[in-house]
Amino acid sequence: MEKVEALKQIHEKWFVDCKCELKKTATQPVPGNGNPESLIVFIGEAPGKSEDAPGIPFVGAAGKFLAEMLENIGLKREEIYITNILKYRPPNNRDPLPEEKDACREWLHEELNFIKPKLIVFLGRHSMNDFFPTETISNVHGKLLIKKFKNIETKYFLPLYHPAAALYNGGMRETLMEDFKKIPKILEKIEKEN
Ligand code: URA
Repeated sequence: MEKVEALKQIHEKWFVDCKCELKKTATQPVPGNGNPESLIVFIGEAPGKSEDAPGIPFVGAAGKFLAEMLENIGLKREEIYITNILKYRPPNNRDPLPEEKDACREWLHEELNFIKPKLIVFLGRHSMNDFFPTETISNVHGKLLIKKFKNIETKYFLPLYHPAAALYNGGMRETLMEDFKKIPKILEKIEKEN
């Protein structure tokens, strides 16, 4: 419970300190949400219309698909932690701009280093490229990347296709569901190694 409260305070500090220009057009911030003791953190791209209204990430169609895939591997949404690269909705859901990513990055890093998950799962290319700018999602989806960054405590990363992109694309949907099923084994391997 103490950790829940401490994380809430981190978010409340960033509600004030974040300099992202999207603050002007978004309804409200959409901070990360879920269990701060989670072994896995999922990072998406940015809130959409469905998330901007309640201020909670991944509650629209992509979020429902994500919840379904989590259930398939025996996890409930409340057991894990979900956040986004951007904490504010871009107008008309356009792609995030580099300066918007820059403005929200320290907030993301602070929540990651507070939770210290064993595994970070990237949902889509924007999230992956923020950490691995030269990789392409079609090459590395479903593959465990191991890297020690100087400002991030976690060193295991799994890139996946974004659930919104895969939702209505049969082939990509199948691939995402197959990649998702690798998560329990990957976690087991990480726990054994550490
Ligand atoms: N897509 C995202 O990347 N994040 C959300 O919160 C919702 C949809």
